[in-house]
Amino acid sequence: MSILPVHLLGSAVLRERAKEVGAVDAAVRHLVDDLRETMHAYRGVGLAANQVGLTRRVAVVETEPGDLLALIDPKIVESTGQIDDEEGCLSIPDLYGDVRRAARVVVETTAFDGQRVRVEALDLKSRAIQHEIDHLDGILFLDRLSLLKRQLMLRKWRKSRKGETSVIREVPETADEA
Ligand code: CO
Repeated sequence: MSILPVHLLGSAVLRERAKEVGAVDAAVRHLVDDLRETMHAYRGVGLAANQVGLTRRVAVVETEPGDLLALIDPKIVESTGQIDDEEGCLSIPDLYGDVRRAARVVVETTAFDGQRVRVEALDLKSRAIQHEIDHLDGILFLDRLSLLKRQLMLRKWRKSRKGETSVIREVPETADEA
């Protein structure tokens, strides 16, 4: 398993639509492991393949320690309710904004044995699933803010970057604590 560098806002791969995986092979299982380890290292609750530079429809969500959900070719088949809550993203560190999401979703995903399975999620887990599937479609949470809020965020982002142009985020030094 490897901890991979995370791509930041400005990296083109975050804007690509990831491609369907189809059969779950060793490479897909390996990618799930790497995503999980990288998510832990960066202390996130979700991570999509685009964020580590790979355009495959694979992501992980872990909103409760130990409750890992691997999303492989995920598809939301039911969504109900609406809720506004604060959201952030490992690809846009230190910026947060209120995003409207479905309160409850049922997501269909491919299990490691190849079966399509359905998982129901509420609250933060539901939000994280929607956020990660957005990543696989090249969408960032910023895109779901009002134009005014988005512009404000982008100004904050540029300011926080202090002229830094790299679009790869190195692993935090606290990696071993997560
Ligand atoms: Co994100």
